[in-house]
Amino acid sequence: MILVTGGAGFIGANFVLDWLAATSEPLVNLDKLTYAGNLHNLDSVQGDARHIFVQGDIGDTALLARLLAEHKPRAVVNFAAESHVDRSIHGPEDFIQTNIVGSFRLLEAVRAYWGVLPEGDRAAFRFLHVSTDEVYGSLAPTDPAFAETRGFEPNSPYSASKAASDHLVRAWHHTYGLPVLTTNCSNNYGPYHFPEKLIPLMIVNALAGKNLPVYGDGMQVRDWLYVKDHCSAIRRVLEAGAPGETYNVGGWNEKPNIEIVNMVCSLLDELRPRADGQSYRSQITYVKDRPGHDRRYAIDARKIERELGWKPAETFDTGIRKTVQWYLEHADWVANVQTGAYRDWVETQYEQQPVPAVGASA
Ligand code: NAD
Ligand code: TYD
Repeated sequence: MILVTGGAGFIGANFVLDWLAATSEPLVNLDKLTYAGNLHNLDSVQGDARHIFVQGDIGDTALLARLLAEHKPRAVVNFAAESHVDRSIHGPEDFIQTNIVGSFRLLEAVRAYWGVLPEGDRAAFRFLHVSTDEVYGSLAPTDPAFAETRGFEPNSPYSASKAASDHLVRAWHHTYGLPVLTTNCSNNYGPYHFPEKLIPLMIVNALAGKNLPVYGDGMQVRDWLYVKDHCSAIRRVLEAGAPGETYNVGGWNEKPNIEIVNMVCSLLDELRPRADGQSYRSQITYVKDRPGHDRRYAIDARKIERELGWKPAETFDTGIRKTVQWYLEHADWVANVQTGAYRDWVETQYEQQPVPAVGASA
């Protein structure tokens, strides 16, 4: 038995689905079901007795103590977080509460549980904290990619809150001996990605005939990894990672945002051409840049490749095609997440003056 937190969100749900497909081991899935948590992501495992879903908060100490005592997990995998940079700029409070205070309470509850386990179980126990490359800050064009040895320089309220949680996890290992593992992964994409993030927002907006809002000059670089590859990396780290170590996870896929948007448009032009015969690229609109926007992220994944033998299965070309196809085949899922709260956010976020297009034909 393992305990997963945040398993109704984008990456957590993919992890739960892959876990139940790959192993017979049951799991408890603790999720608060914020705007980003969606039980429809888990429709295919409803009724599977190995999946025990509990709605609740990682900051709820009493609930955590009860779940740990009742289910006696051999590991905890912590996905639960507020995850959207733009929302963190708009209102950081929830990020501090969940990502910092919630992670602290989870660590404390796990420490109390782990501390009284029988010797063998205590040694085998793992707490895996899922984090982001954004804790490292922004790279200049010629800087080497982020290695695990790089210092933290978080720039957004989101990345600062994740960096704080990473530091807490590290401290709980050094101070109390808790057998922790941390993964810092690059930008994910794939099925069940909430359409406030770049790739699903572009797909959904394109199909709805809306603008495709590109921040600033569109030349910011992100390093993209198909979500199933992130999930396989987490499984591998859980299985073979050394306690106290951190592992950077990425697929060597750096791309400027405008190139991503153009690729999405080209795939849609091929798979679902517009009725008027024009390219979806004509919907690209350059908008005001995000405040404090990090220019470039890139992951040096050599440690996890060398020490744990992990490699991604997808290239960006195969992963993005699968992703666009998934959204085309799951219009019902998209409609379901586009609630009133979603519309309010997207509409207020993009009421911005277009600025002249400078890289549209990249
Ligand atoms: P998401 O926003 O899609 O999902 C987060 C999930 O956590 C939701 O189901 C939500 O209901 C749940 N949650 C939020 N607050 C909670 C709380 N207090 N208690 C219990 N559950 C709570 O996020 P995601 O993109 O799936 O990211 C998952 C994790 O991976 C996060 O920790 C994030 O920082 C990290 N990460 C994400 C990316 C990425 O590209 N999305 C990359 C690297 C790391
Ligand atoms: P996002 O998906 O929010 O991930 P993160 O900020 O965590 O990297 O954004 C990815 C990149 O795309 C980032 O450089 C911001 C940019 N972006 C846009 O240009 N337009 C958009 O509408 C969104 C949501 C993001």
